[in-house]
Amino acid sequence: MILKPNMRSQVLPMPVVLISTVSKDCVRNAAPWGCIMPILRPLDEIAIASWLKRDTLDNIRDTGEFVVNVPTADMVKEVEICAKSFPPETDEFEEAGLFPHPSVKVKPPGIEGCVAWMECELVEEILREKYSLVVGRVVHLEGNDDFFDESGGMDFEKAKPMSMILGPDGVCYTHPTSER
Ligand SMILES: Cc1cc2nc3c(=O)[nH]c(=O)nc-3n(C[C@H](O)[C@H](O)[C@H](O)COP(=O)(O)O)c2cc1C
Repeated sequence: MILKPNMRSQVLPMPVVLISTVSKDCVRNAAPWGCIMPILRPLDEIAIASWLKRDTLDNIRDTGEFVVNVPTADMVKEVEICAKSFPPETDEFEEAGLFPHPSVKVKPPGIEGCVAWMECELVEEILREKYSLVVGRVVHLEGNDDFFDESGGMDFEKAKPMSMILGPDGVCYTHPTSER
């Protein structure tokens, strides 16, 4: 079957993360993100792609910091609330019933109950006509003790880190499983 070139998200499973930021007025924001990738293992940089009209992008530009939270697959309700377009002065933690997970090296809090938290500092923004690529450095990485063993291995059957694939009817949320 030949598919349209812009249907990449229908053939490629993608992670779903919640990016938490704070505005320059210290308003907490959280938004789901699919276009995120680590830049080459084992380096410590990651990249996200952002449409230009995003409070998340404005906050990263203003503060130089963000947290990438990996939600569990049962956080779909929270993810969908955060996907709504709230004004920048709205605290999206309160809107979505999210509790802060204290960050160690950056100002924005993480989100409690997530699988892992990547605290990031802005390295570079690559601005295109319609979107922006944001490169960040992970300055602190923490896994939720409920899901990680002593060697840093994730029990992903238990953690169910959220991912997605696009279908004809929209986003289908899923998570990794292993054949046993
Ligand atoms: C599963 C999912 C993945 C998303 N991925 C992205 C993305 O990669 N880049 C982007 O700009 N918006 C993405 N969005 C849309 C934003 O999350 C949405 O517009 C949100 O309201 C932005 O919030 P903000 O203005 O507070 O940053 C995604 C939405 C969902 C539901």
